[in-house]
Amino acid sequence: MKLFSIVKLGLMALGTASCFPEPAGHEWHVAGPDDKRSPCPGLNAMANHGYLPRSGKFIDKLAIRSGVSNAYNYPATLFDGVVDQVLAAGISTTGDNSTFNLDDLASPGAYPEIQFDGSLSRNDKVFGDALNFDLNIWGHTAERLDLYTNSTGDYVTIEVAAAARAARVQDAMSANPGFTAGPNFSLGTTALYLTTMWDTAADAAPKSWVRAFFENERIPFTEGYFVPETQKDLGAMFARVVAASPA
Ligand code: HEM
Ligand SMILES: *[C@@H]1O[C@H](CO)[C@@H](O)[C@H](O)[C@H]1NC(C)=O
Ligand SMILES: *[C@@H]1O[C@H](CO)[C@@H](O)[C@H](O)[C@H]1NC(C)=O
Ligand SMILES: *[C@@H]1O[C@H](CO)[C@@H](O)[C@H](O)[C@H]1NC(C)=O
Repeated sequence: MKLFSIVKLGLMALGTASCFPEPAGHEWHVAGPDDKRSPCPGLNAMANHGYLPRSGKFIDKLAIRSGVSNAYNYPATLFDGVVDQVLAAGISTTGDNSTFNLDDLASPGAYPEIQFDGSLSRNDKVFGDALNFDLNIWGHTAERLDLYTNSTGDYVTIEVAAAARAARVQDAMSANPGFTAGPNFSLGTTALYLTTMWDTAADAAPKSWVRAFFENERIPFTEGYFVPETQKDLGAMFARVVAASPA
């Protein structure tokens, strides 16, 4: 199938793009068979680099704080509210409500307030699997972001990302009569990946970084990503995505 080979080509190209070293002790490794992963590429990438426990198990608030600040230089407490929401949802399978396993985030009780419909790289829960990367769903997103040609240059702009988000939500609403997610959910996750993979000098996200992030759940150190020195302003990006979104 066309999308499949395009994505495969993209993955092969990434394999050859290795120029910069990964931080010692934070090399990317694929999750092992017993490791848990989530519907969130941001958390999975942290676990794949050891910024969260590589097992993906017994994650607590302090682990999230240290992960998001060390991997991405977000303010350490930025996600405290989300973590509180996860821990209060009663979805943890660790036996201890101060921790969760990454795959708990896709358990039935996580839907629709924590895990929601209209994701860029996952299918909606009603179709079975909202936990794992979905090549077909992502293929449409990747085409809309023009990740595999250079016809729009090397960067994803806010406008292109906002249009891709809106188009994915339209797809999901057409396919899924039970779609309920309000726009803030997917606006928020689009703002999150843009902020996280942002090249401030270019005022855009390098396509190679976006591909690594979603397709390999890898922080693109080898493609030139570095942990920014100034902390990131997610709210400002959210506002820019809203402003750039089609009516
Ligand atoms: C620190 C940086 C983070 C980044 C860059 C990030 C990024 C993202 C992105 C881009 C998505 C959407 C994936 C898609 O549409 O296919 C997502 C989904 C998700 N994230 Fe994160 N995230 C981060 C932190 C967190 C934290 C701390 C939590 C919870 C403790 C979390 C929980 C989730 C969940 C449950 C989803 C699934 C939502 C859905 O159904 O699409 N994320 N994240
Ligand atoms: C965890 O929280 C849920 C929901 O509040 C509750 O039903 C459950 O008993 C709690 N489990 C533990 C081990 O505290
Ligand atoms: C892609 O296009 C941009 C802008 O036209 C150019 O600067 C860049 O060198 C091209 N990159 C590749 C890999 O061909
Ligand atoms: C969406 O987010 C904006 C900005 O944080 C907020 O003002 C608005 O009330 C939110 N809308 C809903 C429906 O939650």
